[in-house]
Amino acid sequence: MKEILGGAGFGLDFDLVTGLCPRKASTKRYLSGVKSIFLHPEQAEERLKKEDPLVYEFYELEMIQDPGDLAFGTSIVHPGRVGGEYFMTKGHFHSVLATAEVYLCLRGKGMMMMESPEGDWDCQELYPGRAVYVPKRLAHRSINVGEEPLVTFFTFRAEAGHDYGTIERQGFRKLVMERGGRPEVVDNPRWKDGGGDGL
Ligand code: NI
Repeated sequence: MKEILGGAGFGLDFDLVTGLCPRKASTKRYLSGVKSIFLHPEQAEERLKKEDPLVYEFYELEMIQDPGDLAFGTSIVHPGRVGGEYFMTKGHFHSVLATAEVYLCLRGKGMMMMESPEGDWDCQELYPGRAVYVPKRLAHRSINVGEEPLVTFFTFRAEAGHDYGTIERQGFRKLVMERGGRPEVVDNPRWKDGGGDGL
């Protein structure tokens, strides 16, 4: 190994089955904390009377966030549904909007929903070995449409930050629902419904 002045290389091990990094704690989002992202939060409430399942988890590794640095980690969306809508991440824009991101699917079956501030959208399949390029300016959300954990590895420029609030207010234009046992992309009837109504 060769010493690099002014910086240090490092490696992290991720489990290809669980997606977890045994040495680091993941950030966990339980249904109770994300119920409002679903079209039918009342169905989430019903389930919460019995249990509070883990919807997804991901790594916010504490890395240097200077221009030129890269953030990376894994995201694990667990299998499940609320009112026919698949378990998914909240979704976000980057605070530095002109920031692209790459997701490489390691396990499971999913979809990457993307949307621009103007409402243009795209949806790409995720399956093991598939890398999806999320262009700059697009909000993005990963959705598990399978029956096992959806594990992806992501990387983006470290200073980009996250804007969750815009999506919390207006939602995504399109939803992915289970219809006849298969995922279907449908219009979100609450998209920009008055704006800022807490969707
Ligand atoms: Ni992102």
